[in-house]
Amino acid sequence: MVNKELIIDDRGKKYLLNKNLDNFGNDLGVVDLVGKEEGSILITNKGGEFYFVTPTIHDIIKKMKRSVTTLLPKDIGLIIAECGIENGETVVEAGTGSAALTIYLANAVGKEGKIITYEKRPEFAKIARKNLEIVGAVRQNQKIIGIDDENEEEIEIVENGLYNVTQKIGDITEKIEEENIDVLVLDMPDPWNVVEHAKKSLNKAKGRIAIYVPYVEQAKKGVEALKEHGFLDIRTVECIVRDIEISEKGVRPSTRMIGHTGYITTARVCPEKVVEYVPKKPKETTEQPEEN
Ligand SMILES: C[S@@+](CC[C@H](N)C(=O)[O-])C[C@H]1O[C@@H](n2cnc3c(N)ncnc32)[C@H](O)[C@@H]1O
Repeated sequence: MVNKELIIDDRGKKYLLNKNLDNFGNDLGVVDLVGKEEGSILITNKGGEFYFVTPTIHDIIKKMKRSVTTLLPKDIGLIIAECGIENGETVVEAGTGSAALTIYLANAVGKEGKIITYEKRPEFAKIARKNLEIVGAVRQNQKIIGIDDENEEEIEIVENGLYNVTQKIGDITEKIEEENIDVLVLDMPDPWNVVEHAKKSLNKAKGRIAIYVPYVEQAKKGVEALKEHGFLDIRTVECIVRDIEISEKGVRPSTRMIGHTGYITTARVCPEKVVEYVPKKPKETTEQPEEN
């Protein structure tokens, strides 16, 4: 549940609004929002149509403030699917950036799961916190671990929030404080410097890692580090998405597309406990000889 509302006008233009606004208008006219329910078509004073609906986290992320470029849904979806991230899992992430990935991860693990997100730049972590507050992934005025000068700005409480994200200031190449984590997701320039800590911190039975990098040289260094530390099931992919235009004239791919964003490498940590093979003893017969 988010503390925003969405209006889509009849040209498809989207407006993300704070809850409890009295009215809203654009060049297509004005509507009164008092007492109006999401899920309604509101007719403007000029006869235009506004579709008044509940925004998804995708709508919110598209409009939120950014410190850095965020991961795109196509890459986020693939990371979540390839790692098989589930309800109730503990995921460690770095760097937080604008928290787009964090928000999707928080939703993937749900209320019973946990996200711990590391960011080395406090000014980015503060922008991320605002974004996380909007979707109810952190509590109102929740501290960012490692920042002393918290501002006490009033933010609306999100009904039924997830509240499952912990933000930390720190350089994840120095250490990962958490143990027994299910998944580590890295969207940062030098993920190969985290692989050794990852090996120690991941749960030995089910620990997975995902690395996102824009350059192929970075992907190669990441894979080399994973191999050096014995990771299993290593796979690198690139996800390319094309919009398809469907009109009365015909169907064709859109002229413009995002050519490249990044490479995603996934792997799982190697178990440590070695169990030697013990040959089975031949079965002893318990049958009694038949009496004559
Ligand atoms: C590309 S951005 C992440 C964007 C984020 N995934 C999103 O969707 O909004 C990379 C972030 O990693 C942070 N970073 C880089 N190296 C780091 C490190 N060693 N430890 C923690 N954060 C780091 C940067 O400051 C930057 O904010």
